Amino acid sequence: MATNKKPGNWKKRTLAVRGGQTRTSLQETCEPLIMTAGYAYEEAEEAEARFKGAPGFQYSRIANPTVTMFEQRMAALEGAAVGRATATGMAAVSAVFLAGLKAGDHVVSANALFGSCRYVIEGILPRFGVTSTFVDGADLSAWAAAIKPETRLLFVETPSNPTLAIVDIAAVAKIAEKAGARLIVDNAFATPALQQPMALGAHIVVHSSTKFIDGQGRALGGMILCRQDFLDEHLNLFLRNTGPAISPFNAWLHLKSLETLDVRMKAHCESAQKIADFLAAHPKVKRVLYPFRADHPQHALAKAQMSGGGGVVTFEIDGGKEQAFRFANGLQIVDISNNLGDTKSLITHPETTTHQKMTPQARAAAGVTGGMLRLSVGLEDADDLCEDLAQGLKQA
Ligand SMILES: Cc1ncc(COP(=O)(O)O)c(C=O)c1O
Repeated sequence: MATNKKPGNWKKRTLAVRGGQTRTSLQETCEPLIMTAGYAYEEAEEAEARFKGAPGFQYSRIANPTVTMFEQRMAALEGAAVGRATATGMAAVSAVFLAGLKAGDHVVSANALFGSCRYVIEGILPRFGVTSTFVDGADLSAWAAAIKPETRLLFVETPSNPTLAIVDIAAVAKIAEKAGARLIVDNAFATPALQQPMALGAHIVVHSSTKFIDGQGRALGGMILCRQDFLDEHLNLFLRNTGPAISPFNAWLHLKSLETLDVRMKAHCESAQKIADFLAAHPKVKRVLYPFRADHPQHALAKAQMSGGGGVVTFEIDGGKEQAFRFANGLQIVDISNNLGDTKSLITHPETTTHQKMTPQARAAAGVTGGMLRLSVGLEDADDLCEDLAQGLKQA
């Protein structure tokens, strides 16, 4: 790989386009997709040296040049020392927990969580002797009270899926620091374009790059961003030997998507704000949750730690599941889909999809109700989307 230009003190938009780029001897302008499982060595001695730690690649489960570019660009955008890409967002979340914990450890997590994250903490970790406490993420005294001598990891999603609850990253990071624990922030909803948890004190950031980072609903991916000590002490050997590696092709898609992340997020936010305001004024809508609306319970905090409200709007319509289904079934532009972060607007009924497998108590604690819908606002014209939602609401 030929070395490219030397990175300067670049701003986010430049890092998103140029960060981490390396070129082959062909000097291609577009980052190369190195689709290979293995690498050949000129001599056996070279193989031996690589396995002893000499620079270079050995096997794409361990590292791949295209994946490395994606990791370095993400680390630059998040302000992290290092990044490690994974096959999915859930692979990233599970790897952090499984690599970072041992029997006897304890985890504190916010209640408002994506269903699979909750399953990892409640369903898998206890099998390995790890206990957990769930708290109201907005209640700082509850975080402090939940800490035990054996607490090692704190976990939040902010904004959370689907209720868009906001957690004070800086305050919870301080609580973690004092306890000698690490704070993990799932930054999938905000992306580094709108929020940089590490600058606020978080120790680890995880992503489902499947969402706004891909941005076009094409490929699964995940990312772990952390400080060097967590990588060296916990993550490196775990990832290398358990193998949740991302395909180079998916990494290439997400690497290239980062180049437009900032402009896309601005457009998502602008439309989401307009749609949130439209829904809030509609007589059939009981409640709208959008972090940059003044009626969001943590509006001031959202404004302080995010530079935009994000591309997801959650709302409750009059009635319950029946009305929510009639509304969703009547939409002509917006697709019914449990994915999010696409150019296409997608709507889901969390109670019966993403949060279906939770216990009713856990669902209630996460704030999910029968009349609730989560709308991932795409890049279609916002006026067309408002018209579609209006005609859907007529049928609810
Ligand atoms: C907040 C959050 N974290 C993690 C995930 C899991 O990501 P993936 O589907 O890429 O495994 C999701 C998926 O919806 C999510 O919304």
